[in-house]
Amino acid sequence: MGLGRSALLAGSQSAWLRRQATRRGFVRRSVSRFMPGESVDDALAAAARLREQGAATILTRLGENISDAGEADEVTGHYLRVLDAVSAQVLDAQISVKLTQLGLDLDRERCFRNLRALLEHAAAAGNFVWIDMEGSDYVDATLDVFRRARALSSRVGVCLQAYLRRTPADLESLLPLGPAIRLVKGAYKEPADRAFPRKRDVDESFFTLATRLLGPEVLGAGSLLGIATHDARLVERLRAFIAAGAVPEGAYEFEMLYGIQRPLQARLAAEKARLRVLISYGEYWFPWYMRRLAERPANVWFVARSLWSG
Ligand code: FDA
Repeated sequence: MGLGRSALLAGSQSAWLRRQATRRGFVRRSVSRFMPGESVDDALAAAARLREQGAATILTRLGENISDAGEADEVTGHYLRVLDAVSAQVLDAQISVKLTQLGLDLDRERCFRNLRALLEHAAAAGNFVWIDMEGSDYVDATLDVFRRARALSSRVGVCLQAYLRRTPADLESLLPLGPAIRLVKGAYKEPADRAFPRKRDVDESFFTLATRLLGPEVLGAGSLLGIATHDARLVERLRAFIAAGAVPEGAYEFEMLYGIQRPLQARLAAEKARLRVLISYGEYWFPWYMRRLAERPANVWFVARSLWSG
């Protein structure tokens, strides 16, 4: 892992930096590249615009590792209202939650109850809930909660990270469920004994995991693969695999983050590929934003430019 990336990921944990950054106008301006606004209405308006461009969406309120159970219940209530707003506005917009935002650190049963409330509400509305994957210490607990959730409803999916050495085994253990998996490269600071340090290995792991889910032995079990990457080379490689194997359209979709690789998003939408754009919103954006900077340290120049232009 490069020094710049490492420093940015370490910075994402700093309360002091968070206080400083959230006060600075130039940082807030550069954040707007990646999120349409802090309120859910900003996110819903962006979802409506993306619908016009042919993309479905996923909404997520930023926040993680909450330390008060009341806050977890508040987040749950918030997402219940978001599901209602999505139905009222007839949007194809799912939700994505972090389990530590629903109280995983405090009380796993309470977290599961909160998730169950979201699943029941989503199922009644014909909607869908994604579970994000956080740092590697959370993988076992997250997969455990996902398995319990999947026993209640098929309208739930979980994120797996290609950079983790354990992920092929995790994927095999989930396959009998015919699961919905969002495959990502992975965004956290992880030690080399847990995650591949070299980008080349992460990319290859992503391709191998994705093709396993799109392969003939797995297709037909009802699984869904969210190909969640902005890596144009990987996207083209997977599209070629999909075309060669005549993989049905319902077996996969492309997923990208709001504001990243817009030309690639526009091209996929224009070519009628299934595309979902994840829109983040909320006030607690600092650690998430630092992870976006770490993905592409060149982004730090955009922050600097906003300082001069501001
Ligand atoms: P890679 O980092 O190789 O980037 C490929 C290209 O995309 C770059 O060359 C650049 O052009 C562009 N790009 C990528 N990131 C950029 C950025 N921040 N700014 C500007 N350009 C950028 N992670 C996780 O650990 N848990 C999770 O639950 C999720 N959830 C999730 C959902 C969705 C829908 C997406 C798309 C991603 C996530 N992630 C995630 C994040 C993921 O792990 C990963 O960090 C990012 O997607 C960046 O990796 P890429 O696959 O895009 O490849």
